[in-house]
Amino acid sequence: MKILAIETSCDETSIALLTVKDNKIVIHSHKTASQAEFHSQYGGVFPAMAKREHVKAILPVLSYVLDESKPSFKDWQKISLNPDTESKIRQILEREADLANDLINFTKTNDLPILDAIAVTRGPGLEMSLWVGINFARALGKILNIPVVGINHMEGHLVSSILPEETLHKEITFRNIPDEVISLLVSGGHTEIIYTKDNQHKLLGETLDDAVGEAFDKVARLMGLSYPGGPIVSKLAEEAREKNIIPVELPRPMASSPDYNFSYSGLKTAVMYYIKKNPLENEEQKLSLALGFENAAIEVLVSKTLKAIKNTGAKALLLGGGVAANNYLKKMLHKAAEENDFEFFEPIHSITGDNALMIGLAAFVKFRDQEIIDESDSLKAAGMLTLG
Ligand code: KG4
Ligand code: ZN
Repeated sequence: MKILAIETSCDETSIALLTVKDNKIVIHSHKTASQAEFHSQYGGVFPAMAKREHVKAILPVLSYVLDESKPSFKDWQKISLNPDTESKIRQILEREADLANDLINFTKTNDLPILDAIAVTRGPGLEMSLWVGINFARALGKILNIPVVGINHMEGHLVSSILPEETLHKEITFRNIPDEVISLLVSGGHTEIIYTKDNQHKLLGETLDDAVGEAFDKVARLMGLSYPGGPIVSKLAEEAREKNIIPVELPRPMASSPDYNFSYSGLKTAVMYYIKKNPLENEEQKLSLALGFENAAIEVLVSKTLKAIKNTGAKALLLGGGVAANNYLKKMLHKAAEENDFEFFEPIHSITGDNALMIGLAAFVKFRDQEIIDESDSLKAAGMLTLG
């Protein structure tokens, strides 16, 4: 199955071209244009600006991906657009007339790949951003005359762990993951524990307020650090651990509640009060606070995940989402796996954040035992889409 995957749910414009067969994949190309630096000046993502940046980036990213695919992708075609298709493209991209023109010109001047389907993120995420990817995918689907299918972004994070490496142009064998698993999905928008058996998902618990990545970002902001703050706070915490700095004591919200839910807004507020009382005047104070926060945020994730493993009897854990880049989290989960005898699968670092490769992987998993049905004419952005 030859798939072009597109992801634009938040602030990354990402496209991947893949061939998947049985339990093997060839990644012909995977390119992500990140807007993080652009948004860092505002301390967060503004939907209208994110949308504008996606519109600017999406065709250049596609062009890059097609070029990069050439060494291993062999099936190309020249397409002559008939007036009917051209008007359909203009209709689909009616609000983006420049993009429609550029895509039509691109089609006239470039060879395009012969594919089986286009997979595009349909949610959850920022609807304005999602629509850019969806409409671009629909227009491209008309040009290539192939089905377009919508993929749940969280399904992408959830399946990421099946990929053991990201080397282009060579055949890679997927990891063998059991049918019954617990997944911990941790990102800027989600903190969820999911139980999956035979591809059916059940949400066991989630955050009742802020997501864990969001808490990292907000704490970073309170500490005067830039966006996205997760990696920076976590680096400071790592440094603090190396230097044996004593952590600031902070609460572990909902750690002992009987469910699988989380709450991170109280922890963020505790950090805010701490800073008010104890202005951060030197490096050591910053390190101590970052360490205290990371310990509290991660410990609750680990203990609730472990509880879900024990109570369901699942023998494997998958980790996914931007916060899966956090070294302390991975270390603690490895430790829990060893001590409690379950398998732990983590995504390779390059696909922890938002990316199109994971959307292609989710499409492959979905269509391994399901027919591909074209959703092009019914596809809509679903900002609040859930799993299951
Ligand atoms: O999955 P993702 O790229 O986007 C969303 O779908 O939200 O996740 C981004 C989130 C941000 O909140 C970012 O600060 C956080 O992941 N993040 C981290 C780390 N790297 C990224 N949080 C903690 N430690 C990290 N090393
Ligand atoms: Zn994400």
